[in-house]
Amino acid sequence: MPKRAKISIIGAGGNVGATCALWAASKELGDIVGIDIRINDMLPVDGRMLDLAEAGPVELFDANITASDDYAAIAGSEVVVVTAGLPRKPGMSRDDLIGTNVKIVKSVSENIAKHAPDAIVIIVSNPLDAMVYTAWKATGFPTHRIIGQAGCLDVARFKTFIAMETGFSVEDINALLLGGHGDDMVPLPRFTNISGIPVTEFISEDRLNEIVERTKKGGGEIVAKMGTSGYYAPASGTIQMVEAIIKDKKRILPCAAYCNGEFGLNGLFVGVPAVLGAGGVEKIIDVKLTDEEQKLMKASADHVAELVDVVKKLAPDLA
Ligand code: NAI
Ligand code: 2OP
Repeated sequence: MPKRAKISIIGAGGNVGATCALWAASKELGDIVGIDIRINDMLPVDGRMLDLAEAGPVELFDANITASDDYAAIAGSEVVVVTAGLPRKPGMSRDDLIGTNVKIVKSVSENIAKHAPDAIVIIVSNPLDAMVYTAWKATGFPTHRIIGQAGCLDVARFKTFIAMETGFSVEDINALLLGGHGDDMVPLPRFTNISGIPVTEFISEDRLNEIVERTKKGGGEIVAKMGTSGYYAPASGTIQMVEAIIKDKKRILPCAAYCNGEFGLNGLFVGVPAVLGAGGVEKIIDVKLTDEEQKLMKASADHVAELVDVVKKLAPDLA
């Protein structure tokens, strides 16, 4: 009999982590362990996970949903999702979080390496690409088992705006987006279609450029409206990756993955189309870009490299 998968979420007491647990439970992807810190004498993640478990009889999902502040509880996890860390506030960029979040992600990663040494790790904490590097160094895991979630969210935002513009179903919109999880991410209209028909048949170039710009600033748009980061779509993108891994689906999803020559990049985790399956990142699809697209990709990757340098200064043992 196949056993249920085990998915651990570090930071599950917060918005993105708790919503990851919700999507994972509702899709019956496996048993869920939520880890978070104690605040005074309380362990709020315990309340959030119990609250979610109590929705099971209504939503009809079977999953053991538990919580702890003890990493021993994550032992045997197939996938560990990391959402621990500060989110940004209005006026802040993702990069402003680096000082605090590098310490959090480093200590979380060390615990993952100790208690779930065979897990595939999906990082969500920001600044995303630099936190993926941090987790890679702090766990010592092979690169195919360290992946960052950004592209699934960013491309979902791009598709949402195209659906809003055209009135067509989100189900029929296909798109690709590359680069780091910053305002210099690279949505690619050339690879965007609606049921196979190029998006340019439906939307003018000028309007498409506006939609690309809105996508790049999509995170900030939400923060400005509600004072903190979004969590429904970020968690949904994360669980799309978890599902591809748990079910060995071999999906091609845009993820922060380790480039070893692909897209002309070396030794950097950055958003690229990756095949996700039971082995984690099983392959990167190295698409031939135009000179202009390659220039944008390089600028985005250069920004990621600068952030990685900041991590190395803040935590020299991760260099
Ligand atoms: P939140 O503040 O609601 O939740 C963060 C949780 O992390 C809290 O429950 C906190 O107690 C916990 N935490 C802090 N230190 C910890 C530690 N040492 N060990 C375990 N847990 C710890 O924040 P939210 O909105 O859930 O965002 C979480 C992170 O995800 C932020 O860094 C945010 O910028 C990032 N984010 C990334 C996205 C992406 O696409 N990559 C999208 C949205 C948010
Ligand atoms: C987002 O894009 C802030 O990374 C977060 O919503």
